[in-house]
Amino acid sequence: MTQTSAPKPIRTAVFPVAGLGTRFLPATKAIPKEMLPVIDRPLIQYAVDEAREAGIEQLVFVTGRGKTAIVEHFDTAYELESTMRDRAKALDVLDPTRIQPGNLVTVRQQVPLGLGHAIWCARAIVGDEPFAIFLPDELMIGRSGGTGCMKQMVDAYEKVGGNLISVLEVPREDVSSYGVIAPGTRDGNLTEVTGLVEKPKVADAPSNLIISGRYILQPEVMGVLGTQGKGAGGEIQLTDAMAQMIGRQPFHAVTFDGKRYDCGSKVGFVEATLALALARPDMAEETRAMAKRLLAE
Ligand code: UTP
Repeated sequence: MTQTSAPKPIRTAVFPVAGLGTRFLPATKAIPKEMLPVIDRPLIQYAVDEAREAGIEQLVFVTGRGKTAIVEHFDTAYELESTMRDRAKALDVLDPTRIQPGNLVTVRQQVPLGLGHAIWCARAIVGDEPFAIFLPDELMIGRSGGTGCMKQMVDAYEKVGGNLISVLEVPREDVSSYGVIAPGTRDGNLTEVTGLVEKPKVADAPSNLIISGRYILQPEVMGVLGTQGKGAGGEIQLTDAMAQMIGRQPFHAVTFDGKRYDCGSKVGFVEATLALALARPDMAEETRAMAKRLLAE
């Protein structure tokens, strides 16, 4: 199913950041998981920069208790600016993102009832426009020199419209930890989605294409989320709502050309830190030497 007229542009990005981050306790007792830094940028900033690269200007943070640091991170830090100026230091490290006044909106999720519920909390801001979703603990880095994940998705969306999710191929034996798509016809990096299964057994998995944390969804998903009960883990699941959209509207998966790091897990976080350090000209050499030394110990 493809769209005939030009699809409405994606102007709004929703960042659900109200989760409890229990896998990183005690680090996340007083600091939001999304503020944990990979080298020198917090996770949320990687996601926001990816949204901006894709041309998305309105940013909606779904926050909860103890998450104010996320919003403050995007404020202008006057005191720091003036100190840096006095010391003749470059200011661009302070606020490389430069969000336009009025383009950052927060809504509250009073109780973390699940990802689907967090998205539904943004319904008044999203209105009747298609929108993007970013899960900031999934760090998506485009192939070197290439575009980021959401830009790749927006490019695909301009061709097919409807709903899109980002997917990655994994070894078949790994599918049981993820949401998996049932694939229809494939055309380049676009695969038609005919079904979604959350954490299937290896034998039952309809493919080895796993859903990663980037979505472009039509506003009708909000109506589905509003009436939906709890799913797996007693949470209101986004996957369940998306499954209901299949067949009603175009639904495609975009195979991401790049690397995903699961920064919601400790090993994934270490992997991201090492991989990004090895990719940075100012750190690569020392990091490689350090890793060699550690492995030899
Ligand atoms: P996760 O399940 O990875 O985050 O949700 P979590 O619940 O904070 O982590 P753990 O498992 O306890 O360590 C993915 C994203 O969805 C947000 C989280 O903040 C994270 O960015 N989320 C999740 C919400 O905003 N609200 C929720 O109710 C659940």
